[in-house]
Amino acid sequence: MKEKISRHQFLDRTSKFMIAGMLAPFVSAGGALYQTKKVRIGLIGCGSVSGMYLPHLSKSPYVELVSVCDIIPERARVAAENYQVPHHYAHIDQQLAGAPFDLLVNLTDMQEHGRLNKQALLKRKHVWSEKPMANTYAEGKALLDLSRQQGVRIWGAPAVVNSPQFAHMSRMIQQGKIGKVAAAHAHYGHLGPTWSAFFYEQGGGSLPDLGVYNIATLTGLLGPAKAVMGMTSIVTPERTVDNKGKIKVVAEDNAMVLMDHGNGILSHVQCGFNYFDPYGHEGSGQDKPTISIWGTHGNLQLIGYDWAPFGVDVATHDNEKTRREATDTGTYVWQEGASVISEKLATGNEPLIAALHALHVLEIMEATRASQLTGKRIEIKSTFKYPVV
Ligand SMILES: NC(=O)c1ccc[n+]([C@@H]2O[C@H](COP(=O)([O-])OP(=O)(O)OC[C@H]3O[C@@H](n4cnc5c(N)ncnc54)[C@H](O)[C@@H]3O)[C@@H](O)[C@H]2O)c1
Repeated sequence: MKEKISRHQFLDRTSKFMIAGMLAPFVSAGGALYQTKKVRIGLIGCGSVSGMYLPHLSKSPYVELVSVCDIIPERARVAAENYQVPHHYAHIDQQLAGAPFDLLVNLTDMQEHGRLNKQALLKRKHVWSEKPMANTYAEGKALLDLSRQQGVRIWGAPAVVNSPQFAHMSRMIQQGKIGKVAAAHAHYGHLGPTWSAFFYEQGGGSLPDLGVYNIATLTGLLGPAKAVMGMTSIVTPERTVDNKGKIKVVAEDNAMVLMDHGNGILSHVQCGFNYFDPYGHEGSGQDKPTISIWGTHGNLQLIGYDWAPFGVDVATHDNEKTRREATDTGTYVWQEGASVISEKLATGNEPLIAALHALHVLEIMEATRASQLTGKRIEIKSTFKYPVV
């Protein structure tokens, strides 16, 4: 974002930004002053996914990486060195009391998200949280309420609604191109992460790690779920992981979710950590549909995973031969969430990603587990702004 301003405006705005606590560096080009607002980031959790986030964040013109933190201090030190981050800490208390920042990017174990996000909000930091935003819907809702009281914002992964393929499918559905929508199916699985135990412990599981993407995509395309039925199981009761050796699997590693979106629309998500998949955890090479949507006039197949799609196969009543559309992926990458949020905070624009959507997905995942326990259909209370695109 570049904007030409006078020296007087420069001084006026600088003082305003200092008051607002936002960093506003100005660069001089040919005697004129140009402004690029930056959001100061404190990132916590320097494990696997930080290796995708940090390169992306460090290239963003809207981001200043201020600090990194990990309870394994060596990880924070190495991340700081690799990405020229000036401060590194071994505890969130030190990070929050240390070099000032605007946005906490939380990439820690799933079970830690709610607690750490709350600490940041209490210190009036905006929050971008990896999924899930909290351990329960109630905890997540309390975080959203707290953010409003504190005058800051919170958002949760995933960023699937940002892809051009999501937008293409959403527009086709909204424009009635596939007629009355009836049914949809989505799947995502691999053999499970090998590095950390938390994926398999209480509060982990294939739903919040994998199903979360498909549930966000299907509710984003078909509308908020009104009710859910689900079944979950544990296929592999013991695993060996890098950080703890042999562990007992407590959270579901296999899940089936049925959603009722209203207006007769039913959808299904399956996810698990026991899927042999030649594309593995990285997903590269996956070139088959992972999301299918059927209506009375056509069907849509999302090609590749919904977090890394690269086309939509379309067949309609008027043009029955399947054709591939939306093959341009633009700048979208799944790890862009915190960078996009920084850009939106800097420019004052509202992102497509919404906290209410992340909370809705969280309620669906909890409802799936409740359905497994009770054998019942579970009504969903939460909702979000729909259509997303
Ligand atoms: N790995 C991926 O490819 C990937 C992709 C998308 C999303 N995610 C999500 O990102 C999150 C992290 O996953 P990961 O694979 O990077 O796990 P990881 O185990 O590799 O990294 C987590 C890091 O957080 C640190 N940590 C845990 N508790 C902490 C605390 N209280 N304070 C500071 N640091 C703490 C750990 O020491 C570890 O370094 C999860 O929510 C996961 O679902 C991971």
